[in-house]
Amino acid sequence: MNTYIIGEQAKYYEFGKPISSNAIVEMKVPAVFPLEEIVKIERRSEIQFSLKEDTRVYGLGENLGGINKRGGRYESYCRDEANHTEDKINLYGAHNFFVIEDKEKAIGYFVDFPGRIHFDIGFTNDDEFIITINGENFGLMKIEGSTPSEIITKFLKTIGKPYIPPKWGFGYFQSRWGYRDQKEIQEVVDTFQQHEIPMDGIYLDLDYMVDFKNFTVSRERFPDFEDWTKSLKEKGLYLIPIIDAGVKIEEGYNVYEEGVKGDHFAVNQEGEPYVAAVWPGKVHFPDFFQEKTRRWFGEYYRDLTKMGIEGFWNDMNEPAIFYDEKSLEEAVDMAIDCRGKNLNVHKFFHLKDTFSNLLNDEKYHQRFYHRMDGEKKTNEEVHNLYGNYMTQSAYEGLSRHLDHRFLLISRASSIGMHRYGGIWTGDNASWWSHLEENVKMMPLLNMAGFFYTGADTGGFGGQCSGELLTRWLQFSIFTPLLRNHSALDTRAQEPYAFDKRTLEETKHLIRLRYRLIPYLYSTYMKAVDKYEMMFKPLAFFYKESHYKEIEDQLLLGDELMIAPVVERGKTGRRVDLPEEMAKIEFADSGYTVEIVKEGPHYLAYQRDRLIIFLKKGHMLPLGDVAMNVKELKNEKLDLLVYMDENAEHLLYTDDGLSIDRNDQVKTIFSVIHREGDFLVDIKNPYKGLKVVNFSFLTNEGLVKKTHRINS
Ligand code: GLC
Repeated sequence: MNTYIIGEQAKYYEFGKPISSNAIVEMKVPAVFPLEEIVKIERRSEIQFSLKEDTRVYGLGENLGGINKRGGRYESYCRDEANHTEDKINLYGAHNFFVIEDKEKAIGYFVDFPGRIHFDIGFTNDDEFIITINGENFGLMKIEGSTPSEIITKFLKTIGKPYIPPKWGFGYFQSRWGYRDQKEIQEVVDTFQQHEIPMDGIYLDLDYMVDFKNFTVSRERFPDFEDWTKSLKEKGLYLIPIIDAGVKIEEGYNVYEEGVKGDHFAVNQEGEPYVAAVWPGKVHFPDFFQEKTRRWFGEYYRDLTKMGIEGFWNDMNEPAIFYDEKSLEEAVDMAIDCRGKNLNVHKFFHLKDTFSNLLNDEKYHQRFYHRMDGEKKTNEEVHNLYGNYMTQSAYEGLSRHLDHRFLLISRASSIGMHRYGGIWTGDNASWWSHLEENVKMMPLLNMAGFFYTGADTGGFGGQCSGELLTRWLQFSIFTPLLRNHSALDTRAQEPYAFDKRTLEETKHLIRLRYRLIPYLYSTYMKAVDKYEMMFKPLAFFYKESHYKEIEDQLLLGDELMIAPVVERGKTGRRVDLPEEMAKIEFADSGYTVEIVKEGPHYLAYQRDRLIIFLKKGHMLPLGDVAMNVKELKNEKLDLLVYMDENAEHLLYTDDGLSIDRNDQVKTIFSVIHREGDFLVDIKNPYKGLKVVNFSFLTNEGLVKKTHRINS
């Protein structure tokens, strides 16, 4: 076993010859450390930890089961898992980082391995945590620190800064699998405008393509795509097309033909391009593990950027497979064999399961190979890297041709991909439990480096109610990626597709999102620059055991606590304040504030209200409402300050587009409260700022003061 020190942050133990999982960016310096007794190597590898009564385990990114993972079992193995019911153990991302904490200490671990890993965290035996790694070659990073936050910061430093989207990526996006053509999408845009609901654009699903062929545009359904894209962009609206992992097999289709010619596709055992089936029927999968293939595929994004596109979503890149030739043939043979037979229970269910198990059968992963530094690996061995490398390919291709930031999200991911793009959390459903999982997952995604992220708001599958959409938006307006997306043949999910009440509520929330953009953008940038999480569990900051158990209240940045309603039919909820905070209640006409004492409270929380909490010594900036980010001028800023003696707030006021981020462009507000007076200082006011309306809240009351900027 080799041991390394990674920078000053962590120790890294190498077992055998690990396959690089693209996660760690720092140089590894060899060092000598005693062999840790926690690892015993068999055919597969097992790591065992004993769990004390009070041990908690936080992490594993995109997975079900809440913030403290103890008591469950989980898997790191990217999977197209639309129907994620409570018993599911793996979803679209594979994020192998976690922190174990008990009263005495906290330690973080990252299992550096691109294949399947199983985590049994006190599920089989309450006091045992067993990690089973599907191989003998892997790396294990161990990070010590006094708190989970300190450990996480050290980890984030070793894996490198997260992807930074353009500022317009913080706008609201509407999406639907089922918008058929340009006309229908234009109608959606127009209807948003008629209702004065802001948006920054529309995600384009499969129907913009010709026969599901990547990098094509259907002229029949999108007759003047380039002009339309450009004219929307002039108004500040972006179109974000989907790109799928599978390349359609079709003579004459350039991507297919060039891919075959250039040996760019993953191969079967005989060395021929592997055939699987996804949307268009038969496809080949680009072998993103080859550098030449990443470069080749990444160049195609240019076909669309030339038409004015500046954002993409990479999909089906676990990769998802409907069937492969061999399995389909076997299933059909079996069905033919059954013809005319009297099937008993076993035979009938075997027949039925054979067909339903065709979708995403994991045995396909043993049938195709990637070429990695000249070595052939089955997809199964390096599975979790597929989406990661696809997104790296897109990122590098786009970076070659765009001189400013672009929007890029992926469905499949593993740690390391966070440097190239964001993620949405895949196909969820319009279920209250999925809203709750969304809340709990956000801090865990941040732990794994994924900052630009959010769920399909309102739920992808199933039927959304107006109440669910409102409550979901009350949470999603804080997530950097805010997209309302729904599946084919589900109930329409645009804000105006419901009753008047829902329209009013959701419109008010989306408009509020735009007022929050100065705050959210800055909070994102601060998290990136300081290697800190944006969404944080209470458990990381408050020592009392009952705060450690609260998972449906989160801290956001250094300033806020949010406590969304995640159940149907509620008009209030219990909120536990770990310290005295200012409760801010937004209604259509503005907001009210009130100081709320530390401890448990049952608070009224009507559907048409949004409640958040501001910590003492902090400020919440609220900008203007605009119809999109491009139109946001924020000449007037409202600053709510909750303080004793002083408070400071920093706003990132760069142009939101430059890659170098004009690092110096930050506006700093500071306030000193002395003898009933409030002394305000504004350093480096951003261009266009004219008026700051301060509301100073102290235990003596609320004082308002207008501050004009002399230009
Ligand atoms: C996948 C995606 C979903 C998309 C659909 C059709 O299920 O996760 O977002 O709408 O494919 O492209």
